[in-house]
Amino acid sequence: MKNFYGRKTPRKVNKYELVSLFDDEFFFHHKNIKNFNKLILKDSVLNLEIGFGSGENIFKSAVKYSDEFFLGCDPYLKGSLSLKKKIKQSGIKNLIITNLSFQEFFKYIKKYTFSKILILFPDPWPKKKHMKRRIIGKSFLKSLHSICNKKSKIILSSDDVNYVEQILYNFHMDKNFVLSTSLFGEKLINSFDLVETKYYKKAKKNKKKTYFFLYNVKT
Ligand SMILES: C[S@@+](CC[C@H](N)C(=O)[O-])C[C@H]1O[C@@H](n2cnc3c(N)ncnc32)[C@H](O)[C@@H]1O
Repeated sequence: MKNFYGRKTPRKVNKYELVSLFDDEFFFHHKNIKNFNKLILKDSVLNLEIGFGSGENIFKSAVKYSDEFFLGCDPYLKGSLSLKKKIKQSGIKNLIITNLSFQEFFKYIKKYTFSKILILFPDPWPKKKHMKRRIIGKSFLKSLHSICNKKSKIILSSDDVNYVEQILYNFHMDKNFVLSTSLFGEKLINSFDLVETKYYKKAKKNKKKTYFFLYNVKT
């Protein structure tokens, strides 16, 4: 799997749970990914969360906005396994998840545009030698722009100051997006009903400041 550096299969996973995840109708992997769009109703509003982790945020959004569709990609299978339980118990039909990385998933979603795209606490790769692994770079922004329409909202958060600076720099250089000066921090969290994800809680526990910000598409 290209461009993904974490461990994908959790060590202590129940084999049967994993097999059943790969059979679930809302979970897409390399073999059935081509069929994911059959679940999407025509003309629906689409949202995307890149790196949903344990899925707290995407799940809450899908429950709240039941007339919209939510697509989530994250190669981290442990997160999909915990999200799977919630999806099954709630019976929601508007949440689709995949273990493909964004780079891999992109080729299947590039004909769509998304209303909201969220990237909450992308892996910061703080060591200098690993920084090139960070997802938000020049080519990522090019892909991102191609799946936006004029009204798309890009919501980001990070507690890594160096990564925040890099994100601001990359978006500024890209010139296709405009940073919102009115919606950021707490206001943004409330306005988009963002959930305290695992990594947000971790940052709070470690008393690290988290930056939440929003980009609109330049028109
Ligand atoms: C630091 S965690 C944050 C998880 C979650 N968003 C949160 O706030 O708790 C970063 C997540 O991004 C995922 N990730 C890393 N590279 C990715 C990629 N190229 N495409 C999609 N997800 C990716 C990781 O597997 C991990 O679950």
